[in-house]
Amino acid sequence: MNLKQKYGNTAMVAGASEGIGAAFATRLAAEGLDLILIARRLKPLQQLADLLESKYKVKAMCISIDLSGTDAIQQIEKALNGREISLLVYNAALSYIGPFIKNSAENHSQAVQLNMITPLKMVRLYGEKMLEKGKGAVVLMTSLAGFQGSGYLSVYAATKAFIRILAESLWYEWKNSGVDVIACCAGATATPGYKNTHPEKTGFLTPRVLEPEEVADECFKKLGKQPSFIAGTGNRLASFVMQKIFPRKMAVKIMGDTTKKMYRL
Ligand SMILES: NC(=O)c1ccc[n+]([C@@H]2O[C@H](COP(=O)([O-])OP(=O)(O)OC[C@H]3O[C@@H](n4cnc5c(N)ncnc54)[C@H](OP(=O)(O)O)[C@@H]3O)[C@@H](O)[C@H]2O)c1
Repeated sequence: MNLKQKYGNTAMVAGASEGIGAAFATRLAAEGLDLILIARRLKPLQQLADLLESKYKVKAMCISIDLSGTDAIQQIEKALNGREISLLVYNAALSYIGPFIKNSAENHSQAVQLNMITPLKMVRLYGEKMLEKGKGAVVLMTSLAGFQGSGYLSVYAATKAFIRILAESLWYEWKNSGVDVIACCAGATATPGYKNTHPEKTGFLTPRVLEPEEVADECFKKLGKQPSFIAGTGNRLASFVMQKIFPRKMAVKIMGDTTKKMYRL
């Protein structure tokens, strides 16, 4: 059974114009699902929509909004005008890299809104509709940064921990309802957002940087089978060592030291 047969006709990808979000959208279009694509910049979003419509003969609708706005859900609902969502991918995120105290309280709050509050509200709204229908799927993007304290990524890491725990909890609550939930935990992935941070190489033991398509492909293989997963063998191995072998204090120190080195802080 493919994704369309299992979950329904329409997928919504929040944060879809590039990187991992675009890879999710492409993979969903390839399986024949119509798309609702959300991001702030309409031009790259529309280019992706046009490409997917002509290549896969699906329908793609673009919604250009700022998902960190407190009225994001109302704007999405207005644009949808009653259309049903069968599969939701929440991918958009804001990550400030640097000392906690150097970023403003407003910027920290914006990250919390975009990375936590908007996906929470979307899962509440569209999850309930999926439960009523008895089928659907929710994919929430999270990060290895959320597995332990991550100095210089503090607020981003904390929001990603929230998302993983939320997804895993709902996977349990909804596992017999026909609605699958998964937290997709990515490590370094070669997206425009990641490349724009200009990270330094931190050593030959660092896991390989994945391509966005690898993350999306692995996610759809694991959806419905487990509450969360870590994309890529190298990331899984690194995470095993950090979480199961090293004491917590050492894991937090390695994470902070690595970020400091990567970003010359
Ligand atoms: N790349 C990595 O190395 C990595 C590692 C671990 C976890 N992740 C997670 O994977 C996800 C995707 O990462 P990525 O690197 O692909 O991100 P990205 O390249 O920065 O792309 C993010 C997407 O979200 C949209 N977006 C960002 N802010 C938005 C806002 N306020 N409102 C609406 N749309 C917004 C962007 O389009 P617009 O700019 O046009 O809005 C873009 O389409 C994130 O949740 C991230 O935390 C990534």
